[in-house]
Amino acid sequence: MTRPLRIAPSVLSADFSRLGDDVQQLDAGGADWIHLDVMDGHFVPNISFGPAVIEHLRPRTAKLFDVHLMIAPVDPYLSAFAAAGADSITVHAEAGPHLDRSLQAIRALGKRAGVALNPATPEAAIAHVLDRIDLILIMTVNPGFGGQAFIPAMVEKVRRVRSITEGRDIDIEVDGGITAENAPTVVAAGANALVAGSFVFRGGPEAVAGNISAIRAAAESARAPA
Ligand code: DX5
Ligand code: ZN
Repeated sequence: MTRPLRIAPSVLSADFSRLGDDVQQLDAGGADWIHLDVMDGHFVPNISFGPAVIEHLRPRTAKLFDVHLMIAPVDPYLSAFAAAGADSITVHAEAGPHLDRSLQAIRALGKRAGVALNPATPEAAIAHVLDRIDLILIMTVNPGFGGQAFIPAMVEKVRRVRSITEGRDIDIEVDGGITAENAPTVVAAGANALVAGSFVFRGGPEAVAGNISAIRAAAESARAPA
């Protein structure tokens, strides 16, 4: 089963002084989803933004808000992110002891539920929640910062995740260091949702649409029938 390809630019590399305008630029430039990286300075060594910022961005686009929560604890904040306009909420498998509970809470809020895996976390950590999720986010860098180099060993992990999710209605998303150069490799391994921050914003706002097209074309080349 071939799932739709989703290009999900991360606003982490945007100009935060004009974030709403940059989100509109991503929308006009052909983004499928808008990836929103929330960091707490505790679960990851960086701080980004919270629900208030997402709420103010919400009227700027109708595109799906793909909210990636790199925070712990996460449960006390799920309803705030849902109310702010998240369409999909992804929590880290490492963020708390009760992953199954967090995922149930997200679906109870009427949102798509995702689970993220750090590079060091094996896919066995999510074997018990496959019925509770709509998306698996495979970190292809150590979370916390944009602009890091893709970890090549994650390609095999994407392949393994694809095999444990075969036949299920689950998106496989890769996040970190994704470029037009490595997009075909991760897509061939089974990813259908590609997050890209620094690559998309490379060259400034005027380059955004071209960068999104480049990543899409590269990804599609790996899906073309042989
Ligand atoms: C890292 C974030 C990523 C990151 C992507 O913790 O989850 O979404 O911002 O940025 P690039 O594409 O620059 O690695
Ligand atoms: Zn992310």
